[in-house]
Amino acid sequence: MRSATTDNRNTSRVGAIVLCAGKGERTGLEYNKVLYVVGQKTVLETTLDSLFATEIERVVLVISHDDEAAIKPLLKPYRGVTAVYGGTTRTDSVRLGLRALSGCDIVVIHDGARPFVSPDTVAASIESAREFGSGIAAVPTVDTIKQAEDGMITRSLDRSILYNIQTPQTFRYADILDAYEKASGVFTDDSEVYAQAGYVPHIVRGTYDNIKITTPADLLKAASGVRIGIGYDLHRLVSGRPLVLGGVVIPHGKGLLGHSDADVLVHAVMDAMLSAADLPDIGVLFPDTDGSLEGISSMELLRRVTELIKFHGYSVGNVSAVVTAQEPKLAPYIGAICASLASAIGVKQYKINVSATTAERLGKIGKGKAIAASASCLLTENHGQTDR
Ligand code: CTP
Ligand code: MG
Repeated sequence: MRSATTDNRNTSRVGAIVLCAGKGERTGLEYNKVLYVVGQKTVLETTLDSLFATEIERVVLVISHDDEAAIKPLLKPYRGVTAVYGGTTRTDSVRLGLRALSGCDIVVIHDGARPFVSPDTVAASIESAREFGSGIAAVPTVDTIKQAEDGMITRSLDRSILYNIQTPQTFRYADILDAYEKASGVFTDDSEVYAQAGYVPHIVRGTYDNIKITTPADLLKAASGVRIGIGYDLHRLVSGRPLVLGGVVIPHGKGLLGHSDADVLVHAVMDAMLSAADLPDIGVLFPDTDGSLEGISSMELLRRVTELIKFHGYSVGNVSAVVTAQEPKLAPYIGAICASLASAIGVKQYKINVSATTAERLGKIGKGKAIAASASCLLTENHGQTDR
């Protein structure tokens, strides 16, 4: 058994290898799963944000030629990330990544497809590597595991000593490089390569939500932090006021009556966003007794609601709204309305959908005395990563 090299914890520098050179075939996506978007970020960006929330100073991203054009623009906001090409197996990719890393004493090896790793797990694996030479994230196995051959169980395993192994797997750099340079064959994890070279891998407690996105079901799990909300509003139509819908002024003889600009669509959208976030509605947040709000643009209120949603840890997944108006015909303005809402909410336009319908000349709306709007909104939880 070999002893791990010594480490000076006051001066040791920590780098990471992030593996993204696979194809993600088992997800059934037509592209690499690290480019799958959860909330407002790709899996890859979410992973990098978690790693950079620790003392990691530099990252070698191992990518394939095929993904270079899609990945490079994502890396612009990050300092300390370099990309190298990987190999045909994960083992080759790690080896190539290790060779490209320099100036680090500790290396964190992490799958780019594990975006929900907590910075605490990464920090614990680094500490373990400093102390014992390695820190392998693992969780106690919850399923009963059996060995079977030809459809028959041949052996029962004692679950109390079994662990599911994850990444990060963190090592003293010199030791794991040495182990990978000596290793031949294909391995599914780094601790095995390390153990083959004669070192003893140490485990640290991971978390069950640190899943490796592998199957279509994992893509659903990754998006599971979503909340839906609904909003509705109605305003009277009166002469002598401009008609404003979604922040767009629409030529019409009449406009909506109300405090502020009475933008019924924006009001419904704001209530949908607030309800999804389990926050009080606009009547509570922006009461018509508040003189400072007199005449304020609803678009300004929408920007405030967007900030509030962000503050509470959510991103807007999409907004879908319908305006019920007998007149005027809204179809020519729908594009501009969607663009205006998207810009205030800070999302791409495809995330906003607005449709319009009449009331078949029935009721107050059908008689042209009022316009109503309803909206639904999907929010995604930001999983607590830092914004960079
Ligand atoms: N990986 C890599 N180089 C390879 C193969 C895999 O860098 N030649 C990376 C993947 O990008 C992923 C991690 O290793 O982040 C774990 O591998 P896996 O889950 O198997 O990912 P893929 O190989 O991309 O998926 P699949 O096997 O379904 O094609
Ligand atoms: Mg694979």
